Amino acid sequence: MSMSDLAINGGKPVFDGKVVLNGDRVVFEGKGAIDLAPAWPIPYPETEEKLIEVYRSGKWGGVKKYEQLLMDEFSKWQGAKYSAWMANGTTTLECALIALGVGPGDEVIVPGVSWIATAEVPIYVGATPVIVDIDKETFCIDPAKIEEAITPRTKAIIPVHLFSSVADMDKINAIAKKHNLFVVEDCAHAHGAKQHGKGVGAIGDIGSFSFQLSKLMTAGEGGCCTTDNEEYFDRVFRASHIGNTRIHPGVNPEMGMICHQYRFTDFQAAIIYDQLKHQDELKAKRKKSADRIMELLKNTPGIVQQKSSCADDDRAYYFFAMRLLLERLKPGIDRKFLMKAFQAEGVLLHEGWGAPIVDMGMWNVPQNLYVKHPTPVCEETMYQSGLFSMGNLLLADDAVIDKVAEGIDKVMRECAE
Ligand SMILES: Cc1ncc(COP(=O)(O)O)c(C=O)c1O
Repeated sequence: MSMSDLAINGGKPVFDGKVVLNGDRVVFEGKGAIDLAPAWPIPYPETEEKLIEVYRSGKWGGVKKYEQLLMDEFSKWQGAKYSAWMANGTTTLECALIALGVGPGDEVIVPGVSWIATAEVPIYVGATPVIVDIDKETFCIDPAKIEEAITPRTKAIIPVHLFSSVADMDKINAIAKKHNLFVVEDCAHAHGAKQHGKGVGAIGDIGSFSFQLSKLMTAGEGGCCTTDNEEYFDRVFRASHIGNTRIHPGVNPEMGMICHQYRFTDFQAAIIYDQLKHQDELKAKRKKSADRIMELLKNTPGIVQQKSSCADDDRAYYFFAMRLLLERLKPGIDRKFLMKAFQAEGVLLHEGWGAPIVDMGMWNVPQNLYVKHPTPVCEETMYQSGLFSMGNLLLADDAVIDKVAEGIDKVMRECAE
């Protein structure tokens, strides 16, 4: 095998197809790995009946059947006592901060790599986001950097269980306890994930889930907050239901706690309810495939998997994420070339969001509204070393998974040492 055997250089691709080079672009004409994986989201026939049932019932809003079922069954599945459902996973983060009394004058520590919502919500409540670096191995917020960023104004931390890893909640909770801080887990990527056997979303004070279209469970849009704490549940529910309560009828919301109308509909609830039944099976298949790829790549130079924070993390695999060992790449080889070389083999890997939060085009927050600590690992991960695939790739047949590993191995053996 040599460089000329790579499909990008005219060799035969690992997946069946033809490679067309169009200037800087690689077009793979054929069925590559992602085309052979189930399209996302997966529709379930029984959901169509539920949607008709909801439509005919007229109970599209208000107190509704499938939302109530989710409040019981999703909470139980996730290992939390309570869940409050709302419009999306941005409103959930905001309502979690409102519920915990985070407001003007407070600082909230967030990681420099996430979707921008994680860093923007503190601003919604008048607080200041304080952006810190991530850990190189797990891509999740670095607990040591949290400690360095704490000031007398710090009120909360928002760790994100990013891509397929769970943040180091032992260390984060210990820091929070020591400094009397709240922890809001951003679980947008982590439906069903656990650490030490406990579901994410109830390891900190409040968890926040997104059900946006790409997520592991989705109704197109949707969100929920989970918690083990009855008072936080009541406050999150009130914050998202214009002050209303499910557990203290007749008791008005606390004076000054400004609440929103962020309710979601029973159409969304019915879709998510059916997905719940398939989650354990889908999660097991994604994990099996991820383990299989990494077993096949165990002797491949220059590339490693995104690591878990703890040995007993039970990961959900929203993304399959890897890291290039830059020091092992041969001269002249970089991520841009490798992504093209993988694509030519039929293995589409991407660069995630392509930038740390503050460099994303949509982040238009004036500099006086946030604090940013140095984030060299965020920059390296987003600009140079991170390689990602959506989790539905991991739902493909084993034969496809084996070829994904073959394609990555073929390219890396020529490009790294
Ligand atoms: C890490 C993270 N947090 C929060 C959100 C916000 O969720 P939503 O899009 O449902 O508002 C997302 C969504 O993409 C996300 O990836």
